[in-house]
Amino acid sequence: MRLLILGASGDQGQPQVAAAAAAGHTVRAAARDPVRASAQCAGSAAEWVAVDYALPETVARAMQDVDVVLANYPSSSFNAAEPLIAAAELTGRAARAAGVQRLIFNTSLPVMSEPRGYAAHDVRLTMRHALAAAGVPLICLQPVVFMNNLLRGWAFPHIADENRFVYPHGESLDVSWICQEDLAALMVCAVERPELAGRCYAVGGPEALRGADVAAALSVAAGRPIRFESQSVDAFCAAMEVLMRTRLGAERARMIEELGTIYRWYNTGAERPFLVDMAPVLRELPVSLTRFSDWAARQRWSRK
Ligand SMILES: NC(=O)c1ccc[n+]([C@@H]2O[C@H](COP(=O)([O-])OP(=O)(O)OC[C@H]3O[C@@H](n4cnc5c(N)ncnc54)[C@H](OP(=O)(O)O)[C@@H]3O)[C@@H](O)[C@H]2O)c1
Repeated sequence: MRLLILGASGDQGQPQVAAAAAAGHTVRAAARDPVRASAQCAGSAAEWVAVDYALPETVARAMQDVDVVLANYPSSSFNAAEPLIAAAELTGRAARAAGVQRLIFNTSLPVMSEPRGYAAHDVRLTMRHALAAAGVPLICLQPVVFMNNLLRGWAFPHIADENRFVYPHGESLDVSWICQEDLAALMVCAVERPELAGRCYAVGGPEALRGADVAAALSVAAGRPIRFESQSVDAFCAAMEVLMRTRLGAERARMIEELGTIYRWYNTGAERPFLVDMAPVLRELPVSLTRFSDWAARQRWSRK
């Protein structure tokens, strides 16, 4: 099939480009700067095109002759709601006008069926409704926490430099960590399943792990002891505030407050947003999920 992958240059989009090409699809990959993105994602068998959600004609052009769209969007934690909702409305309109058969929406985070009062969550839910309203058959994949987060600036330095896995999860929080490659595999699997139109799936990995379990697997993968340190949400927010120092003060303060409220919900919400039973999902989207220990064994846990 001919696929358009929106947000293809992002952390979550890149494995989707690879998985879609490996499955034999013809891939059109979208980024605002396709030259830079294709260099960054060297080796991917994709046609890179320019798409900016602020420029509707770029979205319309990219949709031409496309069968299925895999839609990824920038952060709903660190961006204003309106442009994100407008981007989803635009995607739906353009897909309908171009005769696209199906949209697969990666919400990037857990989404419930009702608003919860957390901006990052509620914006994604509104985007889901906006995409559905366009009338193009829609399948939503709603992932929990990515294993790949451990390679990012807020987690990796503690692991590599201090042998500490520091994360804002309570000691007894069960989390269905998923790797971005498995999310990509699930999305590509959904491409070939028109009968799933209208369905929304919470998706996670094959096992529920606590922080200490993750640290134990990291210790094996790294070949040295790494211990879990349950970080308070306040400490996490303070650390993230430092990473966001380029943002304006008032904007940064608002985002950090939002981050704190949604992380408290992730930890204590009665719905247990980070826990997913994948058995029923895998019956409809049959892919082989990666255990954390296997994923960790493939990564480098030091700076050398
Ligand atoms: N569940 C988890 O564990 C987890 C972890 C990390 C992030 N997230 C969530 O994942 C989402 C995305 O994360 P991120 O922001 O870090 O993603 P990212 O990797 O920065 O990717 C964002 C993508 O959107 C594209 N993009 C940005 N602005 C655009 C525009 N105006 N028009 C068209 N494309 C545009 C970017 O492409 P170009 O810049 O190349 O144009 C890029 O491909 C967020 O909601 C975040 O909260 C979840």
